[in-house]
Amino acid sequence: MREYFKQKHQEELSDRETVGASLVSASAPGKLMLFGEHAVVYGYPCIATAVDQRIRAVAQNIPQPRLEIEAPDVGVTNYEKGLSEIGLDTNIFKGVRFVETAIKNFRELYPGDSGLLIQTSSEFSSEFGFGSSSAVTVAVLKAISGLNNVFLTNEDLFRLSYQTVGEVQGVGSGFDLAAAIWGGTINFIAGGKEITPLAVGELSLVVGYTGIKADTPSLIRQVAELYRRDQKWTEGIFGSIASITKEARTSLTKGDWERTGELMNLNQELLVALGVNTKELSRLISAARDAGAWGAKLSGAGGGDCMIALADSEYKKNVEEAIEKVGGKVLRVTSNAEGARIE
Ligand code: MEV
Repeated sequence: MREYFKQKHQEELSDRETVGASLVSASAPGKLMLFGEHAVVYGYPCIATAVDQRIRAVAQNIPQPRLEIEAPDVGVTNYEKGLSEIGLDTNIFKGVRFVETAIKNFRELYPGDSGLLIQTSSEFSSEFGFGSSSAVTVAVLKAISGLNNVFLTNEDLFRLSYQTVGEVQGVGSGFDLAAAIWGGTINFIAGGKEITPLAVGELSLVVGYTGIKADTPSLIRQVAELYRRDQKWTEGIFGSIASITKEARTSLTKGDWERTGELMNLNQELLVALGVNTKELSRLISAARDAGAWGAKLSGAGGGDCMIALADSEYKKNVEEAIEKVGGKVLRVTSNAEGARIE
């Protein structure tokens, strides 16, 4: 993949004039939420895992005093901006919003007058809810810090990317950024108050995509409206989700898959109560449970996107087939993947 990307990159850049040989490529993984979605936005813990589908960013100095972005996966080609205009536009084109805002924030801390070319490519579709915006933000920041010989700790990288996503999206706990940076499987508290890597191996997960792209910010707002209408009741649900997440931290590290599956089912019921489940998700979740999964739940904001099932390897194929039979698309991913890295 690395060779492929390098070659593709060189072909596409062959007719551009570049400065020296300074080119840095970085990548960051997508993520899946295992426990605690929505409650995490209100200060409760969640558990997330990084998946082995990555987004890559290549950063390169160019002689022209401008920012150029090539992100063909999201329909962006030949995007250009004068260096002094980076991030000024209040209506930055959607496909480059995270990338441009990340560069603006980096340049505010580490100003420079060299032109910059950024090229991104993704191994997964932005439809799946794997956190493509977060992964691209992290990959770009990792690449441009490398290009500028700036060493950012994971905490620095989290802070800069959390600021970026906050400016673009306005809402969110930042767990997806932490998963993209640290990798592995993490226990996370909103804003990065706690990011604890968990000693968990690869999980025997099946991921089913409903075929419906969900809009995370509007689902967060929908839950916020519920919270505003009945704070006590909603806090009660969040508290129960938090207890499940706490117990799941133990069951996951002990490798108690049966209990972890039960906890996933319980977490799902609470997400139903929050109103973020859909009939398509239910169909895939029931099919997975009926086919022998230890447990299944939606993963992420709900409203569509993906569900996950935990299944013994002996049942995995059955579960995959059952999900496909009811119209889901099985996405084959490996959990516990490596975090952001220079390639
Ligand atoms: C979305 O993947 C998960 C939410 O908890 C939002 C967030 O934590 O940013 C709904």
